[in-house]
Amino acid sequence: MTGIFCAIDTPDLAAAEKLAASLQGVVDIKLGLEFFTARGAAGVKKVQAAAGARTKLFLDLKLHDIPNTVAGAARAAVAGCRPDFLTVHASGGREMIRAAVEAAGDTKILAVTVLTSLDANELAAIGQGDDAQAQVLRLARLAVAAGAGGIVCSPREIALLRKELPKDVILVVPGIRPAGAVKGDQKRVMTPAEATAAGADYLVIGRPITQAADPVAAARSMCG
Ligand code: C5P
Repeated sequence: MTGIFCAIDTPDLAAAEKLAASLQGVVDIKLGLEFFTARGAAGVKKVQAAAGARTKLFLDLKLHDIPNTVAGAARAAVAGCRPDFLTVHASGGREMIRAAVEAAGDTKILAVTVLTSLDANELAAIGQGDDAQAQVLRLARLAVAAGAGGIVCSPREIALLRKELPKDVILVVPGIRPAGAVKGDQKRVMTPAEATAAGADYLVIGRPITQAADPVAAARSMCG
């Protein structure tokens, strides 16, 4: 069954703890750059405690630096909270990914290929406009060869990566919107059912849950 990580994107510790506690047993949680920058590893541990021991934690820091620095950051990030997943940018290269994998221990490293907020115009503007799919596949293969346990990919790339990558590679998919929802800054979106059918292992859903009048009901409705 496809799992769901709720992206708790807030700098507010009390709000994150409250949301994590309420989502216990419904969906797993993802903490990212916004929360980590504001609250650090100590904040992560508090939210993890509020979420309960059975809730999976995904620390989405999208690390990208020289290998030595990424290794140190990965070691510091997983110390204490032992998340299930930690992200790095695949474009940091093989050596950087290998360094993160070694430093993260039991935490699985997921590699981010191309951000789902980038459309063709933006990709062209940063010099990656030739063929987004080819770029995703190249980066995904490179990351897996360097030891990444999974790939963060756009809904549109699930089918391609499922076909081209080894079967045990975990596909984690943001850019999910329930039918008829506001897309916000996400440009390449699918509904939870579509992404599940396409072969995603985990969905990442933020604002459709966190901004809902009743986040727990919204999360339940997406577990379908
Ligand atoms: O609110 P929304 O559902 O758009 O949140 C998506 C989450 O997934 C955010 O936390 C964002 O940082 C993350 N993400 C993404 N695209 C990626 C990787 C992560 O949108 N390629």
